[in-house]
Amino acid sequence: MGLTIPAYAKLNLTLEVLGKRFDGYHELRSLMCSLALHDTLHLEPAPEIEVRCSLPELAGSGNLAHRAAVLLRAATGHSGGAVITIKKEIPVAAGLGGGSSDAAATLNALNRLWGTGLTGDALRTLAAHLGSDVPFCLAGGVALASGRGEKLHLLPPLPPMIVLLVRPPIQVSTASIYGALTPVGYGDGEVSERVAALMRAVPPAEWPLVNALQPVTIRAYPLVGEVLALLRDLGASPALMCGSGPTCFGLFKTTERAESGARAARERGWEAWVTSPLARS
Ligand code: C5P
Repeated sequence: MGLTIPAYAKLNLTLEVLGKRFDGYHELRSLMCSLALHDTLHLEPAPEIEVRCSLPELAGSGNLAHRAAVLLRAATGHSGGAVITIKKEIPVAAGLGGGSSDAAATLNALNRLWGTGLTGDALRTLAAHLGSDVPFCLAGGVALASGRGEKLHLLPPLPPMIVLLVRPPIQVSTASIYGALTPVGYGDGEVSERVAALMRAVPPAEWPLVNALQPVTIRAYPLVGEVLALLRDLGASPALMCGSGPTCFGLFKTTERAESGARAARERGWEAWVTSPLARS
């Protein structure tokens, strides 16, 4: 009597930082969407909570999905556990919310499997405790996020587009990128709101996308700038960094162009995936 569910990657189409907050986090405005690229989770009731993973280094109690299960059990007083098996497809520590999405899917699935009956609001509160991106991953679809990323205004689906993701072989710490951001990089959220308003009227190539963390990450890791340059050379319009990096994305009109871009990226020794925004949440 188990459950098998997808956990979708997320993409920050825009990421503006409005300023630093008293709690140490940054106030954001971000237009986010779920991608079809996904991990797959299988959950079975069991006496204890256990996380297994196709990438063995992600198994065990350090996985955010494990923390999600512990949090749900504490919040509801449920006495059982679960074996959570994660098949990873979303690149790890890439700025695509893979860990956050696995945690969100775990909350959702265990609430059903355990029959704990938490409301959507209660699940969203738990999700925000687990990380800034977890509430979006729980909701899925397209949203304008504010606060530290947890306040969501849900939006209609995006027009069709092909997304090429390219990841150079480097590890980036989200906390250190936010830590290196100075007020010069702050915005007022106007770009995200403008793109949210025009995204159904104007083609993606004309969207004024922005990521405030991009210059900071490129300063620390110039290779990210090279990935963006390649995406632009390949005809991506626009091309931008995902979250705090190091993965970058480019939008294409056709799968063929994106696939040939993926081959060019792989020839340089970088990983590449072709995907698209999820048509439904
Ligand atoms: O919330 P999450 O654990 O994903 O955030 C990781 C780190 O990113 C935080 O510890 C913080 O340093 C930074 N962050 C931030 N402002 C946000 C989201 C994340 O400063 N809105």
